[in-house]
Amino acid sequence: TDRYAVMGNPIGHSRSPAIHARFAAQTGQAIDYAAILAPVAGFAAAVAAFREQGGRGLNVTVPFKQEACALADELTPRARRAGAVNTLRFAPGEPVFGDTTDGVGLLHDLQRNLGLTLAGRRILLLGAGGAARGVIEPLLEAAPAELVIANRTAARAEQLARLFADLGPLRATALDALDGAAAFDILINATSASLAGTTLALPAHLVAADSVAYDMVYAARPTPFMRWAGEHGAARVADGLGMLVEQAAESFFLWRGVRPRTAPVIADLRAQLA
Ligand code: ATR
Repeated sequence: TDRYAVMGNPIGHSRSPAIHARFAAQTGQAIDYAAILAPVAGFAAAVAAFREQGGRGLNVTVPFKQEACALADELTPRARRAGAVNTLRFAPGEPVFGDTTDGVGLLHDLQRNLGLTLAGRRILLLGAGGAARGVIEPLLEAAPAELVIANRTAARAEQLARLFADLGPLRATALDALDGAAAFDILINATSASLAGTTLALPAHLVAADSVAYDMVYAARPTPFMRWAGEHGAARVADGLGMLVEQAAESFFLWRGVRPRTAPVIADLRAQLA
């Protein structure tokens, strides 16, 4: 039985062990997947200890994704550009491999599960923190007409726009400068405002009758952002539960070379949340 884990601080509410246990059962893979609380100042030591105990791979979550990036010997281009790693793989005799699967998880949820077309669409990405940074490259690879990053602190959005500018049509703005913007086809919330239960002060005209609003966090009930979009007539609203399961599936594939089916796992988790 090969050992894997998710490492973060806090870690108590992580759904990753339940998700990977289902993937393992479904694909007949003999793995053990735990949740490990690492001290804020002790990530590298916790990783070393896990490897000494035979650990084969880790998922990494807040606040260690950047440290995990620094710790990897070999990075995928998307992880290097994002400066963040959510998946580490330790194979005997191989360099430590790091990737970020959050972005591909979001794309799979939008395109495969929700059936959305991103090519040619105008996309608004709210937020410029770690969560936003991880999804910009895959969003641009989907060839939108335009990707606008809007953040409370405009300078952080501008910094990201510079970092990813060569990949596609990307623009940065301050949240409070969205008054003059036209409606968007797809609005994605990558701020942590929903986690704090706060509503972003957004102009209603950003939402049109065919808009889709996606919150990267998930909850038993619609988030404030989802409620806001619904109240202003969005065609569809979704939370980030599908993204969570899809990014996990991508990590599982990197470790085991097998692709689990995500739909039944998403349905199970949804039922548990209710
Ligand atoms: P994460 O890794 O979850 O993205 P982060 O790096 O702390 O966490 O970033 C949080 C993001 O949510 C930022 O874009 C932040 O805006 P600032 O850069 O201006 O701080 C945004 N955010 C958090 N609370 C917010 C609020 N109440 N209104 C608007 N934006 C908020």
